[in-house]
Amino acid sequence: MVQPRSMFAAAPPAFLEPSPDDTAQALQELQAGLLARPARIDPKYLYDRLGSSLFTAITQLPEYYPTRCEAEILRDHAADIARHVGAIDSLVDLGAGDCVKAERLFASLRPRRYVPIDISADYLRAAVQRLEHAHPGLEIIALGQDFHHALDLPDTIPDAGRLFFYPGSSIGNLDPAEALAMLARIRAACAGGGLLVGIDRVKPRRILEPAYDDALHLTAAFNLNLLRHVNHLLGSDFNVHDWSHVAHYDEPHSRMQMYLQALGDVSVGWPGAQRRFGSGERIHTENSYKYTVDGFRDLLARAGYTRIEHWSDARDWFSVFSARA
Ligand code: TRP
Repeated sequence: MVQPRSMFAAAPPAFLEPSPDDTAQALQELQAGLLARPARIDPKYLYDRLGSSLFTAITQLPEYYPTRCEAEILRDHAADIARHVGAIDSLVDLGAGDCVKAERLFASLRPRRYVPIDISADYLRAAVQRLEHAHPGLEIIALGQDFHHALDLPDTIPDAGRLFFYPGSSIGNLDPAEALAMLARIRAACAGGGLLVGIDRVKPRRILEPAYDDALHLTAAFNLNLLRHVNHLLGSDFNVHDWSHVAHYDEPHSRMQMYLQALGDVSVGWPGAQRRFGSGERIHTENSYKYTVDGFRDLLARAGYTRIEHWSDARDWFSVFSARA
């Protein structure tokens, strides 16, 4: 039976997914990365359904401090942050995942519309269904796609009053030049609006490395699951048992680097191509850049933002920046 909707309820969530052309191009890039020397796989492929669940589990590990630090900042400084952000119409969530971080902001920021974007479309769909019931009256337009290409938002989202929320230090997964370009693209997409962004701070190796190589090996499982996702997308025959997870702090560049390392000589094939990996050879899967407050403020200023403000947790391990476009 169809449930009648109250005339005051928001429209049901709109859910948009990428075109076949975009998907074909992504597969080309994936293959090019596997054939490159050194080989690389874009970190966006970490987030299939299982990968997203594993990442949610990682955020609960004692070693993985960023999520807790950021939640502490957003909770303890909610009123200040809301004052700095001002009135908003649309809350655009870049890499929304389970949508929990943004949901905690609804009370203080009071958006009329929520626009979660995440490449993990199935995972996002489930999260959005939950939100629809928890927040009737909130308009939801969900985009199940890579937000690095999705910043020209659908016309149904007004230009005015957009706040981009870019939490979790995800911007750290871009190198500084890419991060600058991404910040500029966000600024162009929120004329007159603003940005709320989380960044992980530079800190000692003894704190950083365990956050990316935990005792329960959840992070190893998360990184290795990438190979299964690639097998599914490309029809390749990676055997997970042939690979191990490596996490290393590259101090000169203030970045954590994640790799998958071949445990022996390995040959991997997929329709149309093949690649041999020698024992110890690595596939680069992610960088996670750490910033100083001054370094990130400078990046925002170079991208053209003004009224830059920031808040940090009690240990100064993580910071949330608010800035006007
Ligand atoms: N964006 C997260 C981060 O940089 C993602 C992440 C956490 C991650 N642990 C990982 C990515 C391990 C690859 C491997 O903190």
